[in-house]
Amino acid sequence: MSVQPKLSSRFLVIGVLAAPLGMTLGILMAASGNHQLAPVHAHLLLLGWVGFFLHGLYYRLAGVTQPALAGWHFNFAFVGVLLLVPSLAALLSGYKSAEPVSAFASLLLIIAYLLFAVVVIRDTTRRAG
Ligand code: HEM
Ligand code: HEM
Repeated sequence: MSVQPKLSSRFLVIGVLAAPLGMTLGILMAASGNHQLAPVHAHLLLLGWVGFFLHGLYYRLAGVTQPALAGWHFNFAFVGVLLLVPSLAALLSGYKSAEPVSAFASLLLIIAYLLFAVVVIRDTTRRAG
């Protein structure tokens, strides 16, 4: 079996799970009037819901032409979001010691996005050529 449905499905499922989580935090912020965790809400929804769902759609439509790169893209993005969201929450709640975790997570996320850029650029240049 091809890895294509598996990889795109993983991105899509994490995206749809991040959406209600992020929205619940939004509702809690709105209800309590405490917007301290707005950046956590923003990044859970933008990196988790929008980013993962968009990447899933890309792989579903374009196919996984570079399984190794795409696999690493997923691993880095997943661990990155998994570490960034709680460490950002801790940081914004005053736990300065969470900063190295956020910094490490940012590094994973930028690598993930660069890997995705390589995948898309290779796909598009192949198609154009
Ligand atoms: C149930 C749905 C949602 C609720 C109740 C909600 C609620 C909130 C609240 C209360 C804030 C803080 C606003 C402030 O302090 O100025 C906020 C900020 C934000 N929300 Fe949502 N939100 C929801 C859905 C979404 C979705 C789906 C996205 C993106 C896909 C999103 C993206 C953002 C962003 C980026 C910010 C930060 C804006 C800024 O600081 O300028 N939200 N949201
Ligand atoms: C490596 C990944 C990322 C890191 C480390 C990061 C970090 C940050 C930081 C430190 C802030 C300022 C938060 C504050 O004022 O307290 C911020 C704000 C923001 N970022 Fe990101 N960001 C990342 C990726 C993204 C992406 C991919 C998007 C959109 C798709 C995004 C959208 C936003 C928005 C809308 C705000 C304003 C939200 C607010 O003030 O509540 N970020 N980001």
